[in-house]
Amino acid sequence: MTDLDEAEAKLEALLDIINSSARQAIAEYKNTGHGVPSADATAFHLLDSATDTIALKKAIRLLEGAYHQLSAILAPPQHTVTNFVLNYNWACIDVALRARIADVLDKHPEGLSVDRLAEAVNLDKSKTARILRALSLMGCFKEVERDVFANTRLSLILKSTNNTGCFAGLHSRGVTKYAGVLYESMTDEEFSRSHEPDKAPRVLVSRREGITGNYWKMINNDDERREAFHRAMLGLNEMVGASAVLHHYPWDNISSVVDIGSGIGTFSTPLAKMFPHLKITNQDLPEVLLEAQNAWEKNAPEALLDGRVEFVPFNFLEDVPVVGKDVYYVRLRHIIHNWPDHEAATILRNIRKVMGPNSRVLIHDCVLFHTVQEPDIGTDGLSTAPEPMLPNFGAGAHRSYQMDMTMWLIHNTKERTLGELKILGASVGLVLTQVYDLVETMVVEFRITQS
Ligand SMILES: C[S@@+](CC[C@H](N)C(=O)[O-])C[C@H]1O[C@@H](n2cnc3c(N)ncnc32)[C@H](O)[C@@H]1O
Repeated sequence: MTDLDEAEAKLEALLDIINSSARQAIAEYKNTGHGVPSADATAFHLLDSATDTIALKKAIRLLEGAYHQLSAILAPPQHTVTNFVLNYNWACIDVALRARIADVLDKHPEGLSVDRLAEAVNLDKSKTARILRALSLMGCFKEVERDVFANTRLSLILKSTNNTGCFAGLHSRGVTKYAGVLYESMTDEEFSRSHEPDKAPRVLVSRREGITGNYWKMINNDDERREAFHRAMLGLNEMVGASAVLHHYPWDNISSVVDIGSGIGTFSTPLAKMFPHLKITNQDLPEVLLEAQNAWEKNAPEALLDGRVEFVPFNFLEDVPVVGKDVYYVRLRHIIHNWPDHEAATILRNIRKVMGPNSRVLIHDCVLFHTVQEPDIGTDGLSTAPEPMLPNFGAGAHRSYQMDMTMWLIHNTKERTLGELKILGASVGLVLTQVYDLVETMVVEFRITQS
């Protein structure tokens, strides 16, 4: 085959992947008995709130990866690279969120004139229309007739009650500012070579704003920020489909779970509801657990009344958790990625000290899979993309690699590869025993290394 034939064969292969993955996604929607979502939908599809969407996510990962690769090959490079930076969707989303545009439009499903909308949100009408037109290109809001806008299934995410919208707001308002000083943080004498959390790009911005103290203090000292953060965690959970862990881990076979860094119970509340036999311990900083108790009283009072749930404050960098439980869910879900190796090892070492012979630690996080994998680690049985896609699904893994950047910008930390997690576990006497691949996140199970 000549090089030219080969190049064309690769394009055809990408087209085939786009076709088959889109058909797979359509089938997933139809399997619910509620048909496929439409571009004109003004309500969520049943599958949008399902807790196990692994099959859909697998199809979308292929679809997004293949169409970005196809378009990057076929479009002039000037277009593609300019598209990377000529992208103010985040700023438009920020306006829509702060002005609560989706909340106003929600009361007018047939659409509202931009005159009345702009008046309701106290913004200039022609500027408001430009924001909405920019977002409508992407299917977020719709111009139903000239200068009349309505919500779509995408813009419903921007309603003030939506947790994923809250997560988006945390990024559009804060993380974008930190991204603006990334190069500076890589060249500043004090920050450039440090991997400590107090040298994150965020700190450079915070200092200028007169904000001091670590991230968790900053959040916990401010009621509004704390509430927004915990809602954003619920949103992150929905966005990455992390609740699939409820369906794919053998919870029936265990009796006690400690949720380390539980937050307000994003994971443990649905776990208690779905598996009433489990005894659950929530462990986090004292001020967070006070909020967690309120959330549990509101969302799952029955579990509190049964006495199946306890709240034990601790500092995971200094204290050990409660002793001898079956599972230490270090969901470390979205915890380990908040800390550099030294602190991450301290957290795991503290857990290791109280584990019994049958205890396991579950690290539930994004797991990066680079296109060139460590030779001694290989793919470890994880799915890789078909040729000619990049093995790690390329743009299909967009959110995981952007989350890695988010961790850098906020905490000066990172998402890890499976190889890095293995090394981290081994450094404190834990061995990897199983990986549950939930597409955007993975649950990596460790047990005590047998000597
Ligand atoms: C990213 S949130 C994850 C919350 C929850 N696991 C989830 O997935 O929604 C990190 C959690 O770690 C907690 N945390 C931070 N530093 C801590 C410490 N030193 N000791 C205990 N918990 C801590 C925070 O209060 C927060 O609830």
